[in-house]
Amino acid sequence: MSKSIKIIGISGSLREDSVNKKLLERAEDFLPENASFEYVDYKQVPVFNEDEENPLPEVVANFKEKVESADIVLFATPQYNGSFPGVLKNGIDWLTRPGGNNSISGKVAGIVGATPGNSGTIQAQLHLREVLSHLNVHVPPQPRVLVSSAGDLFDEHDNLVLPEAEVNRYEKLISKLIELV
Ligand SMILES: Cc1cc2nc3c(=O)[nH]c(=O)nc-3n(C[C@H](O)[C@H](O)[C@H](O)COP(=O)(O)O)c2cc1C
Repeated sequence: MSKSIKIIGISGSLREDSVNKKLLERAEDFLPENASFEYVDYKQVPVFNEDEENPLPEVVANFKEKVESADIVLFATPQYNGSFPGVLKNGIDWLTRPGGNNSISGKVAGIVGATPGNSGTIQAQLHLREVLSHLNVHVPPQPRVLVSSAGDLFDEHDNLVLPEAEVNRYEKLISKLIELV
């Protein structure tokens, strides 16, 4: 069967061992046969500067193309100081430029998040949801995947092992996103 639904994953944390990157990879456990998943690395995207958007830096043009080619954008974000990380906002800002070229408008998006703390990244997710709604992105309000105490969830092979309740919510979220497409 051809893979007709393309899901891309964008992490709010760029670090190599990011628990949020690992959370994104878990999405592959829940994909139906006709869906594919690709992690999108945007760490080379520069700090936004309106003086540099014409012509767009090649790395930004490639990032925009990846998003435009997707049916679903899945975000996994940590919480930094009560919100989502600036590097993710920077990436999203580039996606909306130059003016009138919003690469993420009309997409379906999901938000998940993990933290070693006990907040489950709730504030980060609420803020990201608000920004995405502003950009005409469809984000289902439920289910929410909020992973707390993430440092305790790794097995001896360094795999992220989610609690059953989060596995169920994650699975339902992926189904919901596909249903919305
Ligand atoms: C600048 C900064 C601010 C942070 N603020 C919060 C916070 O508000 N709440 C929280 O639960 N963790 C906070 N943390 C800890 C992150 O949750 C932790 O570093 C987490 O592992 C980052 O996700 P990652 O593993 O995907 O990189 C903060 C970390 C940094 C670097």
